[in-house]
Amino acid sequence: MRRQRVLVAYGSKHGATAGIAEEIGRTLQEDGFEAAVHPASDVRDVEAFDAVILGGSLYAGHWNRDAMRCAHRNAEALTHRPVWLFSSGPVDSSADRHEIPPVPAVAEEMARLHAKEHRTFGGSITAETPGLVARTLVKHDQGGDFRNTRAIQRWAHQVGEELRAGEEA
Ligand SMILES: Cc1cc2nc3c(=O)[nH]c(=O)nc-3n(C[C@H](O)[C@H](O)[C@H](O)COP(=O)(O)O)c2cc1C
Repeated sequence: MRRQRVLVAYGSKHGATAGIAEEIGRTLQEDGFEAAVHPASDVRDVEAFDAVILGGSLYAGHWNRDAMRCAHRNAEALTHRPVWLFSSGPVDSSADRHEIPPVPAVAEEMARLHAKEHRTFGGSITAETPGLVARTLVKHDQGGDFRNTRAIQRWAHQVGEELRAGEEA
């Protein structure tokens, strides 16, 4: 049987969400899937993929615009394949302590695309993050990299298991 092809698309302003997407892609690849990781703005067509994972960073309560546009642009095709969404996220340990629900527009997208699940992962703001807000937060010791590699890998394994179960059904 051919390997299932999974697209991991991300909308990322400063690279933190891109890193999460890469980790998901790497994990799925290790689990025997053919995983492709692309910026959401580059995704014109998802027909070549059996499943799609789409993630975006959160800014002032809004999901990344490239991720949202990707969801809209490919809505028809996305409703015909398994889809998972994720957000990144809180620059503290809250995502490790409890499930953080999607922001309203992402919840709407979940419903529209019949997405299987949404996960919020911790985000990252470090001294390397450009911008005045980031600089100010870091200066006041309110930054940090809260991306939890183990949690990301666990979620990717779980998505893989669901894809396998779908294959066998
Ligand atoms: C100006 C600003 C606003 C932010 N607003 C939110 C927010 O509303 N909710 C949230 O969970 N994280 C928020 N964050 C944290 C980012 O989502 C986090 O740093 C994320 O990992 C950035 O991902 P990116 O580098 O892929 O864009 C904000 C960060 C900045 C700098």
